[in-house]
Formats: sequence, structure tokens, C-alpha cells
Amino acid sequence: MTEFKRPDGRALDEMRPVEAKVGIVPNADGSAMYKSGDTVAIAAVYGPRKMHPQHQQDPEKGQIRCTYNMMSFSVSDRIRPGISRRSTEISKITEWALEPVLMLDKYPNTVVDVFIHITQADAGTRCAGINAASMALAHAGIPMKNLVTSISVGKLDKTLVVDLTKEEEDFEEGEGPTDIPISMTPDGKITHLQLDGKIGVQQLKDVVDMAKKACEKVYDVQKDALKKSIEEKQ
Ligand code: CDP
Repeated sequence: MTEFKRPDGRALDEMRPVEAKVGIVPNADGSAMYKSGDTVAIAAVYGPRKMHPQHQQDPEKGQIRCTYNMMSFSVSDRIRPGISRRSTEISKITEWALEPVLMLDKYPNTVVDVFIHITQADAGTRCAGINAASMALAHAGIPMKNLVTSISVGKLDKTLVVDLTKEEEDFEEGEGPTDIPISMTPDGKITHLQLDGKIGVQQLKDVVDMAKKACEKVYDVQKDALKKSIEEKQ
């Protein structure tokens, strides 16, 4: 790898400081917070409960419905409240990232609602939201095959770096930035990958390897937070 220096002095494969907490919204069936550096996501899960509108009910299985929202004050330029194209897209990809681990066939005609709020944003919010939502679903007791972990890997000019900040996402030298958020299960099954920019096949393989290593750390943090919430109950 080249001698690329990250603005905050992190090693190329080093994530930002991570924190997680489970059980932060008392009224929800399950909830969690995931923080990576200055990016903070909270997720609250409600359900399974009867799907409304009724015509969207699936008699074969329950469904997951995610709502991603970046709060107005989460960045210094106030964000217009309400649904945007971006929030609609991220809500959808969050559903797709989590759906493969959920076992909702025992809950026909129902929906599990997942509300994700970004209280502070410094890039990587979709990944933080997915990490928080995954813990919140487990906390709600939704049957799951596994947790989902998520991280963003970037190519800044030619150098691969893990867990980009907004400053890094805006890097404009050489070929410019490529941002690749990836979600996977702890056994390495990819449930979501987005690619914003350009990258070659070999380098994309390196990206996946880098993401896998980072996701192992995310998984440990998620597991510890879930264990802690159980211990606190006892
Ligand atoms: O947050 P994530 O990296 O998943 O998605 P993005 O669309 O690539 O956004 C990157 C970052 O841009 C966000 O995390 C925010 O810090 C910032 N942003 C912003 O300042 N205003 C917006 N309306 C959207 C994003």
C-alpha cells in the first residue's frame, strides 16, 4: 500500500472508535445505538404487528419495513426534515441488508417496523444504521439466523481505507473517491454492497477482505452490547 496519510492519523485498516448500547428506547420492543467516531445511529424496533395498509400483508410470512431518517441537526448544514430520495434509498437497502437473516415465516401478515435515526452524521450512516438495527432486532427477540454487520471501505485515489469520514469521502485528488458500503453476516455472507465510483476486480476483492476484517470487530462490539443488556436485566 502507498504512504497515504489519513487526515485523522488512522491506519488504513483502522476503524474509528466504536461504541454500542442495547436497550435505549424503553417503549420499543427492541432498540440499540451504534456510534463510529462522530456518526451516531439509533434504531428502534416495533413488532411483529399486523401489517397496515392491509393490502400489503403477505399470508406466507412477516415483512421488515425500515425507515431511515437523518435528523435536521445531525450535520452543520440543517437538513430539511421529511422523506428524501436519499432516505428512501437507504431505507430500502437497509431492509435488503437485514432481510436475509430474519426468520419471519412464523409471522404471516405482520410487519416488523425498524426506525433508524441518525443523530450525528460524519459519513457511514447507512452502515451505522444497519449495525444498530441488527442489534435492535435481536434485542426485540425477532428470530434471526445471525447478526448483520456493516462497514464502508473507500478507495481514495488508489489507496484503500476502512470506515471513511465525511472529509475522506470528499477527497478529490487523482481518481477521486470511491465509497463501498458493505454488509455481511459474521460467517462472511454479503447481504449488501453498494459501489459509488470506479474500482477494478482485484481491488474490489481486497475491499471485501478489508471489510470482512473490520466486520469481525463490529460483530464483537454488537455481541458485547447484547450480552451486557442481558446481564443488566438479571
Ligand atoms: O452516510 P452515508 O455515508 O451512508 O451516505 P452518503 O449519502 O454517502 O452521505 C455521506 C455523508 O454526507 C453523511 O454521512 C453526512 O455526513 C453527509 N450528508 C450531509 O451532510 N447532508 C446530506 N443531506 C446528506 C449527507
